Amino acid sequence: MEKTVKLIIDGNTYELPVIVGSEGEKAIDIRKLRQETGYITYDPGFASTGSCRSSITFMDGEKGILRYRGYPIEQLAEHSTFVETSFLLMNGVLPTRKELNQVRVHLNDNSLVHEDMQDFFRSFPRASHPMGILSSMVTALRSFYPEYMSAEENINTTFLRLLSKVRTMAAMSYKISRGHKVIYPRQDLTYCANFLNMMFDSPVKPYEIDEDLVRALNIFWILHADHEQNCSTAAVRVVGSGKVNIYAAISAGIAALWGPLHGGANQAVIEMLTDIAANNGDVNRAVEKAKDRNDPFRLMGFGHRVYKTYDPRAKIMKAMCDIVLSKMKKSDPLLDIARKLEEVALKDPYFIDSNLYPNVDFYSGIVLRGLGIPTNMFTVMFAIGRLPGWISQWKESIDDPHWRISRPRQVYTGEKERDYIPIDER
Ligand code: SDX
Repeated sequence: MEKTVKLIIDGNTYELPVIVGSEGEKAIDIRKLRQETGYITYDPGFASTGSCRSSITFMDGEKGILRYRGYPIEQLAEHSTFVETSFLLMNGVLPTRKELNQVRVHLNDNSLVHEDMQDFFRSFPRASHPMGILSSMVTALRSFYPEYMSAEENINTTFLRLLSKVRTMAAMSYKISRGHKVIYPRQDLTYCANFLNMMFDSPVKPYEIDEDLVRALNIFWILHADHEQNCSTAAVRVVGSGKVNIYAAISAGIAALWGPLHGGANQAVIEMLTDIAANNGDVNRAVEKAKDRNDPFRLMGFGHRVYKTYDPRAKIMKAMCDIVLSKMKKSDPLLDIARKLEEVALKDPYFIDSNLYPNVDFYSGIVLRGLGIPTNMFTVMFAIGRLPGWISQWKESIDDPHWRISRPRQVYTGEKERDYIPIDER
């Protein structure tokens, strides 16, 4: 017996179907609401609105649970690799050894970027933000690889081409921005080792692959790989709903991720911690500013639309800081400030009452600094990690029988009809 809810509007009773998810999430199916009642709903920011049914990622914001295709993030971070987790997200199951080896061959075969694309990278002003470059160049991939999704080409080849080339392009962009020699991917290196080598190898100072740092990068990207219907994934789905090619949809996701309220927060956290350090490490001043409703300042890396407890990814990221820094024989004064800031904030009623806890971005910048990644590339690192999630969500959306082009309604609050006024009478 289908579950329904009753809605009484203007004296009429309407019965609306209820959709219940596999983890008990209940949704009122309002697809026929306007047609039957003449009413629409109003939910800017979509805090109470489900845009789709999805079997990719499950989050429980109250309990701090995150699972990809049913596997807890803690287990994937401990046992999996970024390539294996990407396969899981895109295919719904963990790969066999044979499948994983096939993926590795595809990633290697697709790891080079068309030589002509280097001209584009060299043409950007040196001070260009890497996120703007990445978003532009992913759209440009459509021009260089038009054979995508052709009848012959298996969709997974398209996905793996994107996964491999976006990583290569990010490192290439960095090298070119520094005026350094571009380092090519190597057939003998794994996905993450290749990225670190392409970023830091040099003809005069060969980069030594450190397996602990490669492991840290795998975990970093696993933690970022998907997060259900966040802002940038919603952008990929909305742009993809017009049946545009996948490169354009992913480019829209990169653009959406750039904002400081979303993926840009990892860069904003470091800027905030640096500012606190410049003010004698006065974390109380930052906490007070964040609490002041008349002050637009917010504690970057804190708060979340879904998590009303500690972000499970932040717990793992926090532990990784010490591992990476000790491996690099570095200390980072910003980590001490971050810990102090967290301690003060989590004792403050403002943050406790609003359920504001550290999110994935609060400690991720410290890990990236430990790896030697420049601050303006932090959100690019988030984008590479989120790529398998965007790809999986895009694929699920175009395969969804309920899927239609995204076109929200609005509540019009403007002028009623009025006549044109000739300019000399205004
Ligand atoms: C990511 O959605 C995802 O899953 C995203 C992500 C992913 O993996 O894709 O997890 C990645 O984007 C993490 C979030 C990174 N952004 C930041 O760290 C920026 C700082 N955080 C905030 O801007 C905010 O918490 C958001 C944007 C994350 C969430 O915004 P919401 O859900 O719209 O919450 P809100 O702005 O309505 O805040 C509710 C209240 C407000 O106070 P009142 O107006 O009700 O009095 O909490 C306050 C806010 O002022 N508040 C904060 C705060 N976050 C919320 N106050 C101070 N500092 C903060 N960080």
